[in-house]
This record gives sequence, C-alpha cells and structure tokens, in this order.
Amino acid sequence: MTTFVATWREPGEVAIRNAWARRQKGGSLLDCLEHGLAEAEWDASLLAIGRGALPNADGEVELDASIMDGATLEAGAVCSLRGILPAISVARRVLESTPHVMLAGDQARRFALAQGFEPTNLMTPENIARYEQWCEQNRPGMLHHVHAVGQHVGDTITMLGLEAPGHVAAASSTSGLPYKLPGRVGDSPIVGAGIYADDEVGAAGATGWGEELWKAVASFRAVEQMRRGASPQEACEAVVRQMLRRQPKSRQLACAVFAIDLQGRVGGAVTEGEFPVWTCRDGELSLTVHRALET
Ligand code: GLY
Repeated sequence: MTTFVATWREPGEVAIRNAWARRQKGGSLLDCLEHGLAEAEWDASLLAIGRGALPNADGEVELDASIMDGATLEAGAVCSLRGILPAISVARRVLESTPHVMLAGDQARRFALAQGFEPTNLMTPENIARYEQWCEQNRPGMLHHVHAVGQHVGDTITMLGLEAPGHVAAASSTSGLPYKLPGRVGDSPIVGAGIYADDEVGAAGATGWGEELWKAVASFRAVEQMRRGASPQEACEAVVRQMLRRQPKSRQLACAVFAIDLQGRVGGAVTEGEFPVWTCRDGELSLTVHRALET
C-alpha cells in the first residue's frame, strides 16, 4: 500500500494526482513527492506555489521548498529562491548533491543554475495585474493568506508519503505569504516546522501562517506526539490546541497541521477556518475537510 496526503483543495489535488502518476511508473516516495509538487509549481493557476504565485511586496516571486527522507533523516531545502523552477527539485538536489540542508536566496539560485536549472520568469500577466491592484490598496507587511485573497481555496502545498512496511517522506513548496516583505521565510523550508519524517514514527507537515507554525515547531511536535503513542489525529489536535493556548495570534489566520503514522492513519487540525486534506491510497482519492478546533 502506498499513501500520499496533500494539503488544500485545488493545489493539493494537482500535487497528489501527479504524485500517484509517478508512483505508477515506479517512482520512489521522494520521486513522487518531488514530481507532484513540481507539477503544481508549473501550474500558473495556483496562487501560492511556483509560477504565477502571488509575489512579495516588491513584485517578485520568492520560493521556499523542502523535502525529507524518513529512512535517513536526510533533508534538503531552499528559501527565497527567485526565478528558478521547480524549487522542490532544487531542494532535492541540495539533499542529494551537497552536505548541507538549506541554501538561501541568490546563492540558492546560483547553485540551481550550476546544477542545470533554467532561469524562468515566474510572473504572469495575471499575477502582475493582481500585484498592481494590491499596490493601490495595501501596504507591505499586511497579513494575507492566499485562500483569503484569491478565488482559489489554497495555500502552501505540503505532502506526506507512506509506503509499506514503514517508510515515510515529507515535502513542501510555497511562495510564502502573499505580498510578504522581501526575504521573509516561513515554516515550509524549515525541517521540523513545515515538514518532518521519521521511519520510526511517521510524518507530519504544516501549512498556513508560517511564523506561528515555525514558533510551534509544528511538524516535529506532531511526530513527537505520535512517538509517545498519540494517533495522528490526536497529535495534530494537541499541536493546534497548544498553539491556540500559547500563541493567541494563531487564531487570526489558519495554522494547519497534518500527519500520517506507519499504519497509514491520517489526521489534521487547524486553528481557524477550514483545512482540506487529500488522501490517496493506492490511487483512491478522498478529501477530508478539517474545521477549526473549538476552544
Ligand atoms: N506556510 C507558508 C508560509 O507561511 O510561508
């Protein structure tokens, strides 16, 4: 049995279908997560990832991505990457071709170019128009979520994968908060915050307001809850309840956590609004919508 899990309705569906397609061709878990996210990055209709994503306050798209192998605890990540796609593939190259975990900004771009990635214009006419409209109406530093400012219900795509009898992986790709301060980095490329995977326990991921999820070290915390015996649902609820109690700001924007254990059980929880999560079990897709926990 192979299970994939992916966040948000429209973006997650693109990613999970492509992950499964790669699996059918014999891809490893890391191959499948990378491919699913890469295809979503190329899809300019998705506003929080890759080409066509809502830019930073300077009108530039800056990408963050990470990938982690639960067998080895090896991970690779990039942050503030400009003009290169797919960011998730650069993150995987960091994992596999360097002794490091993360490369940042201009030097991540330089690494990607040296590895053969092509410079790519990430701004589309549609996101230029959205940016110009935003410039007229807003100021830098205001907090937005893509699913609050766009028609699309979506945000950072984070994915988890499990293959029997007990191997997990996690990956995430995002353009971060729309209209963020240039150079701002959220939870997604941070191992322990945006993703965590450990074959001894399972995997967890986060999506939503990156500052709050990072302060909560949300993904690692969820995996550690499972290590102590919690189910994935109990683990995610524990993380979100702790955020609601200790980080009252987390009520302002969705902070979402999801997890899978080695039995294939999946859970999720969110601080505010709704959190759709796709699950694909050997090609069978289902969507679960988690609603904000009552406090
Ligand atoms: N969770 C994505 C971000 O805040 O950048």
